[in-house]
Amino acid sequence: MKKASQPSKSTKLAGNTGREIPIALREMPRSPTPSRRWLWVLVGGATGFSAIAVIIAVIFFNRTTQPLANSQGQRSATAVAAPDDRWQEEGETPRDNVLGHLSYEEAPVEELQAITADGRVRLRRAAAEKFILMAEAARSQGIVLSALSGYRTVDEQDSLFFEVKAQRKQTPAERAEVSAPPGYSEHHTGYAIDIGDGRAPATHLSVNFENTAAFRWLQENATRYNFELSFPRHNPQGISYEPWHWRFIGDIDSLETFYRAQNLE
Ligand code: DAL
Ligand code: ZN
Repeated sequence: MKKASQPSKSTKLAGNTGREIPIALREMPRSPTPSRRWLWVLVGGATGFSAIAVIIAVIFFNRTTQPLANSQGQRSATAVAAPDDRWQEEGETPRDNVLGHLSYEEAPVEELQAITADGRVRLRRAAAEKFILMAEAARSQGIVLSALSGYRTVDEQDSLFFEVKAQRKQTPAERAEVSAPPGYSEHHTGYAIDIGDGRAPATHLSVNFENTAAFRWLQENATRYNFELSFPRHNPQGISYEPWHWRFIGDIDSLETFYRAQNLE
């Protein structure tokens, strides 16, 4: 009888069926000398281990380099951190809000222009002109922007801060949440204005102002007239959210006044 020819080595390794593996190998679970099969197992294992190591290294690298990317101003989902979070990341603690307000000088009186019929609310000329245009545009859409308070002297702010603080039995920190100490109010500059909804006077100088048509209109349109909210929620100065308090940043003087003051801190 013709003896079956021996399968070649490559045939032996090509398939997984027991029939293709010589009996000697099938019955020897652990070969004392490493066969080519074990070599492949070793190579495969080493490759798998290397791949896992590379994946772990890539994940670790990404995690450790992300804050650096953020600090360089690159935009990403995590780059735009809330101001409070940013302090924590930089190891800072929120500053004392009494003087968290920035210091400002009084606007020159000759620069001021009335924006109400009775002349009681005044802004610096460039801001006044834009506010009047903005109020007219709002009015044409059925929105009444009411000018509640504009320029204030340091003396007026002194009364607002200390007299009201005494009446309400507040600590300086409690008072500073809603009112700047004299010399520290944006209202001194003639660029800041408290705005109310003329159709909802009950919301004047209250957080409820954010639920009015006037506030929604301002959110959508104020930037067209170069006004921005000074104290949004969680602002870095630690001042209470003031949806009614807006500031003009539509010329170089106003821009420097507010943004240089922040950078000097
Ligand atoms: N209410 C703001 C903070 C001011 O008094 O200037
Ligand atoms: Zn204000």
